Amino acid sequence: MSSNHELSTRAIHCGQSPDQWTHRALIPPIVSSTTFELSVEQLFDTKFIGNEYDYSRTGNPTRKCLETALASLELAKYGLCFSSGMATTVTCCHLLSTGDHVLSCDDIYGGSHRYFTQCLYRSGIDLEFGDFTDLSDVANKLRPTTRLIWVETPSNPLMKVVDLKALCELRDRKAPQAIIACDNTFMSPLFQRPLDFGVDLSVHSVTKYINGHSDVIMGAILTNREDLYIKLKFLQNALGTVSSPFDCYLVNRGLKTLTARMAVHQTNGLEIARYLESHPMVTQVLHSGLPSHPQHELARKQCRGFSGMISFRLKGDAQQTQVFLKSLKLFKLVVSLGSVESRVELPARMSHLSVPRERLQLMTIDDQLLRLSVGIEDFSDLIADLEEALKCVQKSLPTN
Ligand SMILES: Cc1ncc(COP(=O)(O)O)c(C=O)c1O
Repeated sequence: MSSNHELSTRAIHCGQSPDQWTHRALIPPIVSSTTFELSVEQLFDTKFIGNEYDYSRTGNPTRKCLETALASLELAKYGLCFSSGMATTVTCCHLLSTGDHVLSCDDIYGGSHRYFTQCLYRSGIDLEFGDFTDLSDVANKLRPTTRLIWVETPSNPLMKVVDLKALCELRDRKAPQAIIACDNTFMSPLFQRPLDFGVDLSVHSVTKYINGHSDVIMGAILTNREDLYIKLKFLQNALGTVSSPFDCYLVNRGLKTLTARMAVHQTNGLEIARYLESHPMVTQVLHSGLPSHPQHELARKQCRGFSGMISFRLKGDAQQTQVFLKSLKLFKLVVSLGSVESRVELPARMSHLSVPRERLQLMTIDDQLLRLSVGIEDFSDLIADLEEALKCVQKSLPTN
């Protein structure tokens, strides 16, 4: 299996070779053993530097298969899996020391914002946010002590698209000591490859598109930098932020349909974004695949497709939002995203609840801003569900 194979082929075959098992299993087995036997001879051999597997926190064969498969998807040299997307973020931040400066884009997942502002700052890290769609703002904020630049693109929930190539060039000129980590969760490895643009770490909440079935919490880091891989692998073991063999098995299974799933997420997402944009009860649609999106041309250049993530603003006030949410049948009111089932959420009261009110207001994340994660159901059923709910919104407006 090589990088010359197309992504859909790599997603099915990379890291899976039966050659690695004496029983030649086609599907990687769940190796649940926490520990692996050593021989006395090995222990007393002066050249012995340890086996690949001795304790499952340090290394596990099922996890290794998945890490190899995930790395191959973004043509990365190295992949590491963690117990959650947040465990991934925390592990990355253990690369930092007291006094370091972290510059993050302003619109990020609420849990990342909570970790940065309520946990990371306690280690004496200097944290700052900026609007990464304005690179002059980034340039002004970079310092000699900037060690980590954290970017989410498209951002959550405002779908801002950041020019990764330009950001990396700016870093190279003004803060070459800084690592750039890109949260690539919204795009999946299929639709965006941050490492291609000079990003150091591509970070995923595997919980979302990569697994795709709402039954695993997991994170991953993909990188080409050997120095960072060695440090992060050390931290993965030292912190114990590892994923379980059973979860790795499930994600490995989910991966095999990633390209097929993403194709439907993309088609359904675009159809629904266009439908919403034409609807009188919707005042704004945020989806980087729409020509009306401020960074549409950049997204077309940078990404290989568009996912099923859409944010939009509903006409009216909190009353109309409640009517809309109560009227939906197929779109379930649940947090998280990227699964086969369609879902709706209200970022201000759900995924971004931990972000202070004033900050949410400043970012215009309010009760009119809804976020859809469009699944892979038949798109006509999804449109019918939205149509019915928007009719109810229209009826509920005070002017009617
Ligand atoms: C963009 C993004 N990054 C990271 C995370 C955190 O991932 P996890 O829930 O797997 O810890 C989330 C969770 O919703 C997310 O949406």
